[in-house]
Amino acid sequence: MTIDLARARALDAEDPLRACRDRFLLPDGIIYLDGNSLGALPAATPERQRRAVEQEWGTSLIRSWNDHGWIEAPQRVGAKIAALIGAQPHEVIVADSVSVNLFKLIVAAASLTPERPTLLSEAGNFHTDLHIASGAAELVPNLGLEIAEREAIEARIGADTNLLLLTHVHFKAGFRFDMASVTARAKAAGARTLWDLSHSAGAVPLHLNRDGAELAVGCGYKYLNGGPGAPAFLYVAEHLQEQLVSPLRGWMGHAAPFAFTDDYVPAPGIARFLAGTPPILAMAALESGVDAFDGITMDAIWAKSVALFDLFASLVAETCPALACISPADAERRGSHISFRHPHAFEICQALIAEGVIGDFRAPDVVRFGLTPLYLGFEDVFRAVAIMADILDTGRWRDPRFAVRGKVT
Ligand SMILES: Cc1ncc(COP(=O)(O)O)c(C=O)c1O
Repeated sequence: MTIDLARARALDAEDPLRACRDRFLLPDGIIYLDGNSLGALPAATPERQRRAVEQEWGTSLIRSWNDHGWIEAPQRVGAKIAALIGAQPHEVIVADSVSVNLFKLIVAAASLTPERPTLLSEAGNFHTDLHIASGAAELVPNLGLEIAEREAIEARIGADTNLLLLTHVHFKAGFRFDMASVTARAKAAGARTLWDLSHSAGAVPLHLNRDGAELAVGCGYKYLNGGPGAPAFLYVAEHLQEQLVSPLRGWMGHAAPFAFTDDYVPAPGIARFLAGTPPILAMAALESGVDAFDGITMDAIWAKSVALFDLFASLVAETCPALACISPADAERRGSHISFRHPHAFEICQALIAEGVIGDFRAPDVVRFGLTPLYLGFEDVFRAVAIMADILDTGRWRDPRFAVRGKVT
C-alpha cells in the first residue's frame, strides 16, 4: 500500500496549506471532490452577502453604486483575478458568463482579420465553447468553424487561421495545453488564440503575460469559489484592448454610460467588454471567493495539487483495478482534477455521493474528482479512495437507486 491512514494524517500535519481549510465552510461527514464544478462556500461569504444585502442594498440603497464601490466591482474583482493568472490588473474584468464572454471575444477578435476565414477549435472541447463558436461564426462575415482532433490542432494552424479557440485544461480528462508554445505557434502563423481558463484559474499556475496570451475567458464558480452561477471573467492583453469592440454594445461598456447618448462610444480599455449592469450580490460572493486565495501563491497550491493527484492515482491503481485513469501522469500536462473511465461511472458516482464522497460524472463513462488544495487534505483522498474501493469490491453501486438520473448529472 502506498500509504496508510497514519501517513496520510502526517502529510496533512506537514501541509503548509492545511490552515486554509478554515477559510471554507464544509459540511461534516462530506469529502468534497467537486470544487472544479462548484467551489465550496468560503467562510467569509455569508457575512459578506449579509453586508451587501442589509447595509449596502438595504440601507445605502442606490447610493451604494458610488459609496460602496459597486460600479467598480467588475474591475476591482477582475484585478484580483489578474493576480492569480499572471495578468496586469487592468487586463481582466468580471462580466456575464463564460459562454457570453466567449461570444464577445470571438466576434470582436475574428472581425479584426476578416481575410482569414477559419475559427479553429478542438473536437471534444467543452460543448458551450463549440456551440458559441458555431453561432459566432455564422454572424461574422467570411468566418467558418473548423473542428480538429486534439493531436492535429497545432499542425492544422495555417495562413487561413483567424482564431484558435482552446480550453487550456480539458474539462473531462484534464489534459493541459502548453499555453506558451501553442500561442507562439499560432502567432507565427498570424493567428490569435482565445483560451478558456475555466478549469485552470485558481487551479494551476498561469502566466498569461509571460506566455504571450492575448485573449482568455474563465469561470467564477469553480476553483474561484464564487458560488453557483457566479459571473465569469475575461482577459484581453493591453495591446489589443483598443482594437477590439464588443458585439454586445451595452451601456456599461460605453465610454460615458451616464451621458445617455444615442451614439455608441466604447469605453477605453477593458471596460468596453461590459454589457449590462453587473450583478452586485453575485460579484460580492465572487470577490470573497477570490479573497480566499489571499497570501497563498499559485505555486504552493499547485505543489499540493500534484501531491494529492499522485496519491489519488496510486491508491486507485492499487485498490480499484476496474477504474482506468484517463488523466495525464505528467503533472505539466494536466490540471487539478483526476478522471477515470468505467462503464458504470454514473452509478459509481451516485454510490459515492450516497456515502459522502462527492465527485461528478461526465457522460458517457467518466467519473471525475476535483482536487482543491485550499480545502482538501491527504486524509480526504485516502478515505475517498478507500470508500470507492469498497463500493467496487462489494458491488454496492449496483443498487438500482444509483441508476436514477436527475436533470443535472
Ligand atoms: C471549459 C468550460 N467552459 C465553459 C463552461 C461554462 O461556463 P458558463 O456556464 O459560465 O457559460 C464550463 C462549465 O463547466 C467549462 O467547463
